[in-house]
Amino acid sequence: MSAKTHITLNTGALMPIVGLGTWKSAPNKAGQAVEYALTEALYRHIDCAAIYQNEKEIGQAFKKVFSGNTLKREDVFITSKLWNSAHRKNEVRVACEKTLSDLNLEYLDLYLMHWGIATPSHWAIPTNGGQEAEYDEHGILVMEKIPIRETWEAMEELVRAGLVKAIGVANFTAPMLIDILTYATIPPAMNQIEIHPYFQQTRLIEFCQSKKIAVTAYSPLGSPGNFVAKGLPAVLEDEVINKIAQVHQKTNANILVRWAMQRGTVVIPKSITPERIKENTDVFDFELSDSEMIDIATLDRKLRFLDPYVWGKIPYFD
Ligand SMILES: NC(=O)c1ccc[n+]([C@@H]2O[C@H](COP(=O)([O-])OP(=O)(O)OC[C@H]3O[C@@H](n4cnc5c(N)ncnc54)[C@H](OP(=O)(O)O)[C@@H]3O)[C@@H](O)[C@H]2O)c1
Repeated sequence: MSAKTHITLNTGALMPIVGLGTWKSAPNKAGQAVEYALTEALYRHIDCAAIYQNEKEIGQAFKKVFSGNTLKREDVFITSKLWNSAHRKNEVRVACEKTLSDLNLEYLDLYLMHWGIATPSHWAIPTNGGQEAEYDEHGILVMEKIPIRETWEAMEELVRAGLVKAIGVANFTAPMLIDILTYATIPPAMNQIEIHPYFQQTRLIEFCQSKKIAVTAYSPLGSPGNFVAKGLPAVLEDEVINKIAQVHQKTNANILVRWAMQRGTVVIPKSITPERIKENTDVFDFELSDSEMIDIATLDRKLRFLDPYVWGKIPYFD
């Protein structure tokens, strides 16, 4: 059975629909996971970010893999993200160049603004000599007065300079997208957002896709280990997912990845475990029926796991 393996971005570039996530991949594991994914598990898409603090180790893996005979740099789609502490115009290029140097790359396929929140430069990534986050007297994360427009225009310069092929955003809401589309000379190619059966974001996906902004589903397995849904089974252990997995003789993770693909979203499950890395791409030889898609649709609990209110008392998504 054939299945779509890529989506086409608004730049015309092809992006592999399944990629490897790297958040919380410990530095001593992240490089091995990426090397395994590229050489043994046929991944052609890796999702990175400066704040994950493992780009140097992933860069070693890229160097090793791309200096071999089988894979060239242009065979792989690589994303990274600009952290909140580098939103000022003159900081954006410096941050991108640091990521390129850490990853041992000359260009990124996609560079995302990680959040629409700017924090002081000294709250940088700890390995860059930054400090812990600061909070005001109300317990709210201290932010910088930097308009998203300033950051976006600096990101557009990265495209013109050839450092990145495409730019996009992550964690953007509809009002933020409506605003950015009023001035962007290069419209965002991507909005990377939390999506899993307990948090389906159907309306936001529809809006993005109507504006030719592709969507990547992050935490597609429900980010087990990081989040627990009180009073509910883990997304990966949901009974509806179990039953569908049995029907197709696939794993629950396969069903979650396949569901994301059939909704037209890119999907980036993270793992550092070789068998799981391989398992998570075993999704191209079966199809969820319309009634199975409807059954999964009924699981929506509007249950967001990743919320800046938790880490900064910022009601970002309210
Ligand atoms: N833009 C953003 O703000 C943002 C936010 C969150 C995530 N992301 C991106 O999205 C990626 C994925 O999200 P995520 O890391 O939050 O969560 P996820 O991919 O939903 O879940 C990852 C967890 O699932 C486990 N796992 C992986 N495959 C499995 C399988 N087949 N069976 C059972 N368990 C499995 C992993 O364990 P092991 O690793 O131990 O195998 C890990 O604990 C991130 O890594 C990151 O690249 C972006």
